[in-house]
Amino acid sequence: MLEKFKNEPLIDFTKQENIDKMEEAFKKLDVEKGKEYPLIIGGEKIYTDEKITSYNPCNFKEIIGIVSKGNEELADKSMCSALEAFEMWKNVCPKERANYLFKAAAIMRRKKFDFSALLVEEAGKTWIEADADVAEAIDFLEYYGRQMLKFAKGMDVGSFPGEINECYYIPMGVGIVIAPWNFPLAILTGMTAASIVTGNTVVIKPSSSTPVVAAKFMEIWDEIKLPDGVINYLPGPGESVGNYLVSHPKTRFINFTGSKDVGLNISKMASDIKDGQKCIKRVIAEMGGKDTIIVDNEADLDAAAEGIVASAFGFQGQKCSACSRAIIVEDIYDEMIDKIVEKTKKLKIGPTRKFDTNFGAVIDENAYEKILTYIEIGRNEGKICFGGNKCGESGYFIEPTIIVDVSPDARISQEEIFGPVLSVIKVDNFDCALNIANDTDYGLTGAVYSNNRQKLEKAKREFHVGNLYLNRKCTGALVGVQPFGGFKLSGTCSKAGGEDYLLLFMEIKSVAERL
Ligand code: SER
Repeated sequence: MLEKFKNEPLIDFTKQENIDKMEEAFKKLDVEKGKEYPLIIGGEKIYTDEKITSYNPCNFKEIIGIVSKGNEELADKSMCSALEAFEMWKNVCPKERANYLFKAAAIMRRKKFDFSALLVEEAGKTWIEADADVAEAIDFLEYYGRQMLKFAKGMDVGSFPGEINECYYIPMGVGIVIAPWNFPLAILTGMTAASIVTGNTVVIKPSSSTPVVAAKFMEIWDEIKLPDGVINYLPGPGESVGNYLVSHPKTRFINFTGSKDVGLNISKMASDIKDGQKCIKRVIAEMGGKDTIIVDNEADLDAAAEGIVASAFGFQGQKCSACSRAIIVEDIYDEMIDKIVEKTKKLKIGPTRKFDTNFGAVIDENAYEKILTYIEIGRNEGKICFGGNKCGESGYFIEPTIIVDVSPDARISQEEIFGPVLSVIKVDNFDCALNIANDTDYGLTGAVYSNNRQKLEKAKREFHVGNLYLNRKCTGALVGVQPFGGFKLSGTCSKAGGEDYLLLFMEIKSVAERL
């Protein structure tokens, strides 16, 4: 009997034994640094001449690993391999497919510290953020495995005299998984697990900033002998590999997490019917946010400040769920800013390999330059009351930055920065706050701090975000508890970690037999 789903517990790093395990994992990783990883197509390990080098963002002289780089020809080979494997995999029963996920979860659990150490060094996560990433990946495997067992029973339908009627879920074909670097294990695992447990085969294109985490993820499937070709691993540039795969006439769905611009471009490309294409492609997209925390005058201000700092600066603000705008009612505006600044001052910036660091570097040079440019824009659009500078010579470190007195239509109020920059907006009252909160292209997460029941109820009705949090931070959705995904240009509102997510990867067949 399978245990009921429960979220993976987080590691308690106040225990010395866990600190020791993590230090041990770092030592193991040090030995592996600079290692080369192949592409995996149809089970074949392919080393290419062209490579992607992955660096530690907290110390960019350090190479984490070197990964082979795909091109259009290899994308075509991956597609052929996934198509061939689909003919076999679609007939593997759902229970057997789910068992692969449970087995992968067990191995990931065993390798938890190794994955966490890698996430610290390749993505610049703190230990706690890295552990949460691994725990979420395990949750996705456990959760989607169980969901598939439910869907295997088919859809309930009514009866009709003299007939047997049934309705069941069938796989679609080959999917393309284009995964981000900010949850390089959790989101990649969730997107891939959902795609394959439903009977599809995939080509995965991880982010070029975190391809080693993805290579290690592939080692798990190899270890459990997932049939060749079910998951094909093809890191490479979006403009060649990504576009080729998205445009391929045999692609059935694209599961994308990343920026709005790339997501919208994928959606456009996918709707262009190619010669020989026989199906409409589905796009499942999660594309970011401009997430707001509202602080009402009737709120617990300390709790609000804590929630804002955690949501704005956790993982250096590089979460699509991150709070990038705090909208504060005027009566408490100055007091709240003092509290936010006071808490932000306590963040210890530095290489995340040290346990007591709670604020690391941003992912890469592009992100670094983009965030610094937005800070410069912010200097003219508001008043920098904390941070605003780069810091450290050998990593992409930028201070947590708070810009106050920002207008709701300023660029830093409207555009996704994807870094540690918080814009603070003053408003007359709660209703104004809600209007401004809703006035962006995005609708992913949001939070409200208030002790007034009517205002909370109004936010529940009118704050138009896929994930709304009341009196808590706006990051850290839990699989199976807070299905995650947004409205408007934040994506297709596909709720990852929710009961109906797997339906996006299947078709439904109704069969009626006259007796
Ligand atoms: N699911 C993450 C969160 O809720 C973001 O991708 O923070």
